[in-house]
Amino acid sequence: MSRQILVTSALPYANGSIHLGHLVEYIQTDIWVRFQKMRGHDCRYMCADDTHGTAIMLRAEKEGITPETLIGRVWDEHTRDFAGFHIGFDHYYSTHSDENRELASTIYLRLKEAGLIEIKTIAQLFDPVKNLFLPDRFIKGECPKCGAADQYGDNCEACGATYSPTELKNPVSAVSGATPVHKDSEHHFFKLGACEAFLREWTTSGSLQEEAANKMQEWFASGLNNWDISRDAPYFGFEIPGAPGKYFYVWLDAPVGYMASFAKYAADHGLDFNAWWDADSKTELVHFIGKDILYFHALFWPAMLKYSGHRLPTAIYAHGFLTVNGQKMSKSRGTFITAESYLAQKLNPEWLRYYYAAKLNGSMEDIDLNLDDFVARVNSDLVGKFINIASRTAGFIHKNFNGQLADGVENIELIGAFQAAADSIAAHYEARDYAKALREIMALADRANQYVADEKPWELAKKPEAVYRLHEVCTVALNCFRLLTLYLKPVLPKLAEQVEAFLDIPPLAWDDSQSLFIRRRINAYSHLMTRIDPATIAAMVDANKQNLEPTPAPAPVRHAEAQAHATQPVATAPVSETINIDDFAKIDLRIARIAEASHVEGADKLLRLTLDLGELGTRQVFAGIKSAYAPEALVGRLTVMVANLAPRKMKFGMSEGMVLAASGDAPGLFILSPDSGAQPGMKVK
Ligand code: 2FM
Ligand code: ZN
Repeated sequence: MSRQILVTSALPYANGSIHLGHLVEYIQTDIWVRFQKMRGHDCRYMCADDTHGTAIMLRAEKEGITPETLIGRVWDEHTRDFAGFHIGFDHYYSTHSDENRELASTIYLRLKEAGLIEIKTIAQLFDPVKNLFLPDRFIKGECPKCGAADQYGDNCEACGATYSPTELKNPVSAVSGATPVHKDSEHHFFKLGACEAFLREWTTSGSLQEEAANKMQEWFASGLNNWDISRDAPYFGFEIPGAPGKYFYVWLDAPVGYMASFAKYAADHGLDFNAWWDADSKTELVHFIGKDILYFHALFWPAMLKYSGHRLPTAIYAHGFLTVNGQKMSKSRGTFITAESYLAQKLNPEWLRYYYAAKLNGSMEDIDLNLDDFVARVNSDLVGKFINIASRTAGFIHKNFNGQLADGVENIELIGAFQAAADSIAAHYEARDYAKALREIMALADRANQYVADEKPWELAKKPEAVYRLHEVCTVALNCFRLLTLYLKPVLPKLAEQVEAFLDIPPLAWDDSQSLFIRRRINAYSHLMTRIDPATIAAMVDANKQNLEPTPAPAPVRHAEAQAHATQPVATAPVSETINIDDFAKIDLRIARIAEASHVEGADKLLRLTLDLGELGTRQVFAGIKSAYAPEALVGRLTVMVANLAPRKMKFGMSEGMVLAASGDAPGLFILSPDSGAQPGMKVK
């Protein structure tokens, strides 16, 4: 039965470029949507730019343009980049739209009617020069716990403490440099706590991945706080109805942007909006998101929908983050790669689509883009295995049989095996386990190549008596090729289009997998895909290395979970006092071997390290280096630690020392390593 499915990807902020990290999600979603469409389902893919907030307002001001002009320009850039990677949105809108204003207001008013909005006066830091309440990321100061300088208003990179910006010592506005003052203001809160019973039930009702549902239990255990959904003027966004000077916080109207994008699309395409969004809707609503915004999508959003009389999401599918060469994307290493720079090197977008698909398994695990592996994998799978089947057989059909395939085939076994795989490959796509789908498809490609290698059409072509066999072998091989194209089509839509033109067939749908491809004329084969030249990858990394923007504007504040991914405001250089040799001698620096490294549940910046100091034993240290290193990249490395730092009790456990790492104004964090020969436990002097 045909399903009706509304699919979304998270709305990217309109204050930054699309990069390869973003593309994990859009490619993941696009593959799923294309697959559903090939299956004959009525699937609509909605997205939009997320345009509101202080950061966008300040950036426009800095550029001397209106926020509307800024978001218009970014919309052009984003849609160009997405089209470059063949992301086939059915509609790409903007949260700054009439539809969104109306829907956000309606939802708010219904929540208010349901008694779920409360107004409270709170004190916040206010920039007296800019006349602006400062979001946490726009305030810097000294950590109230450890005294480290230059920390953001919400958490300390040095000790991992989280706090409220009003607790920061010597705070400074990152916007004007002024000292912020405390100022009271009325805020509107969504009473999330009152929705707990519903949310507890909904989050275990099967709409979330198991890992996400478990995460929810932790959040319930630590208590649901009411959610501050208003911001004071000046703010780029929608004014709250009945509350002059108060605006919806960007995260209130962002998810409503999914609905608004659909509302505009429905109006333009004659669809019934209510049939897709009313509480009793029979359609499916599927959100693809990054794991960092789970809180918004699995708690706030369903609660907003439920208590405003709308349908609930059918599924929320969260994916992990992207690392490049095993580490967090870094501008200094040139691995913070923009979509634009990838395309500018004339790299084929389908190479990346294929590589990501080969890594995505439907879980929340991070995925790694290893650039050497990328080259090797794409060249071997796509060119060496898949394209090879056509390039070794199509020419004979053209030259020896005037482009005409055989009228029938005797060897039906191989084609039968290809056809029989349709259901299992479909099940993997449906479950978003693209890695498994591609493994199965490539195993079929191996079988087809083996068949061609065994039959040697190039030798058959030399023997006039083998002409019938040659026709059969090439027809069988091209049947296999057509079926591989069909199975790969969600991942490689443009290549599939080229193959459809070459085979002179209408667009392949999933059910076509069960038909035979005989008695037809095909077009002349022309080369379908080239190999990746590693030099182009090196050039792209180089181009991104030069792309060192010192201080991009901060992203709007999301949940603390997401802070590690926000861009950073300006830092001022600390001035150090002179110390004497006795002061220095107090520091016991030692060589340590990183014996274990792991993520810390609930910490944005920290990794837990077990340091081996040789005869001095082992130490557990929490190091704020998660932004720069994947744990597995650290294990076995030697580094330098402060071994006599008084142990500190942190939220996550005891930290018994500190590893040394360099950082400066340019992005990047670099742990120190001794020359070879140094042994764990050696003193550093
Ligand atoms: O995290 C982000 O990049 C947000 N702009 C995502 C918004 S998704 C949705 F809720 F709109
Ligand atoms: Zn601190």
